[in-house]
Amino acid sequence: MEQMKIGVIGCGNISPAYMDISPRMLGIEIVAGADRIHERAVGAAEKFGIRAVSVAELLGDSEIDVVLNLTDPVEHAGIMRAGIAARKHVYGEKPLAVKREEGREILDLATAEGVRVGCAPDTFLGAGYQTVRAAIEEGMIGKPTSFTAFMLSAGVEAWHPNPFFFYEEGAGPMFDMGPYYITALVHLFGPVRRVFGTTSKALEERMITSEPHAGKVAPVKVPTHVQCLLEMESGVVGTLVTSFDVRAHTLPNIQVYGTEGSLNCPDPNTFGGEIRLGRGDEWVDVPLRFANRENSRSIGLADMAAGIRSGRAHRASGELAFHALEVMHAAHESSVSGSAVLIESGVQPARLPDGLADGEVD
Ligand SMILES: NC(=O)c1ccc[n+]([C@@H]2O[C@H](COP(=O)([O-])OP(=O)(O)OC[C@H]3O[C@@H](n4cnc5c(N)ncnc54)[C@H](O)[C@@H]3O)[C@@H](O)[C@H]2O)c1
Repeated sequence: MEQMKIGVIGCGNISPAYMDISPRMLGIEIVAGADRIHERAVGAAEKFGIRAVSVAELLGDSEIDVVLNLTDPVEHAGIMRAGIAARKHVYGEKPLAVKREEGREILDLATAEGVRVGCAPDTFLGAGYQTVRAAIEEGMIGKPTSFTAFMLSAGVEAWHPNPFFFYEEGAGPMFDMGPYYITALVHLFGPVRRVFGTTSKALEERMITSEPHAGKVAPVKVPTHVQCLLEMESGVVGTLVTSFDVRAHTLPNIQVYGTEGSLNCPDPNTFGGEIRLGRGDEWVDVPLRFANRENSRSIGLADMAAGIRSGRAHRASGELAFHALEVMHAAHESSVSGSAVLIESGVQPARLPDGLADGEVD
């Protein structure tokens, strides 16, 4: 199979995860990297055997089929637009864009240019959530009716080398971590129809303790506790809470409830994980039955490449990421207006077929 050639823009913290794992994904090959801090591209080139280029060189390189956008969130839309204008397919880290209008514009531009848009997260393609979906569709918990979902943390200033952007527009706990949860839930239950949200902010400034910015403060410009009620088109309802203001808790990542039982689901920011089935007081393990149990970041990109080749839809799609973006904005807007917000977009990605090996998508 001819490899689809990938050029990375943004060689920061998350980029090694893609560069390490992509060689194990069928049909894609990262060939070049660019960063506005050029030494970072050079570092990636030396470590992973790719070419270090400027952003303009990457966009003008006819060998490159797909721009992989790993910049920080406020840069996402601009890089996506530039990639599409260069007639390249684009795939990016989450969120798709900061503003909803930018997200819509990216999808419209891509349609006009005849190129694909894909977006992380792709963790829902891992063994964990593929097994949960199969279990639900095969009736393990009867009729699914509801869920609870919690991403509760103390923030990122103790570990991330560049924690500032997490407290700026386009980030906060919902925009940073919500995509994993919303995408997993939409994968399980279909699109969200209505959102009611409330938000709060514990601190106006966060003291950074990670290097190299230890001792500086990050001003907090967004809510750092965002909780919402989600009503799905299918009738399933649930609660999603994302927070950077929680020091300790005992709540699950995601639990789903049905007429015959409950499933305790893995962290949707992982590919594998443990699944447990509860009926009454008894909880038993549900074995994982799909591939991609370990970190498989870029499986969504490999799936997009396969979709481009065969003409089929890809799963970690721009439409799915736009839906998540609409839901995240709705949670914040509803907190201000006091009213529920109706969601217009919506798509449910197809399950992966049974019997695939790691890195395979068809
Ligand atoms: N770090 C993680 O653990 C993690 C995990 C999952 C997803 N993500 C997502 O990945 C994205 C990047 O996060 P990160 O942690 O790697 O951030 P980072 O700040 O470490 O890296 C971003 C890189 O992009 C470069 N960049 C920014 N704008 C650019 C532009 N216009 N042209 C060229 N280069 C540009 C920066 O110089 C930097 O090197 C974010 O969307 C984040 O949400 C990060």
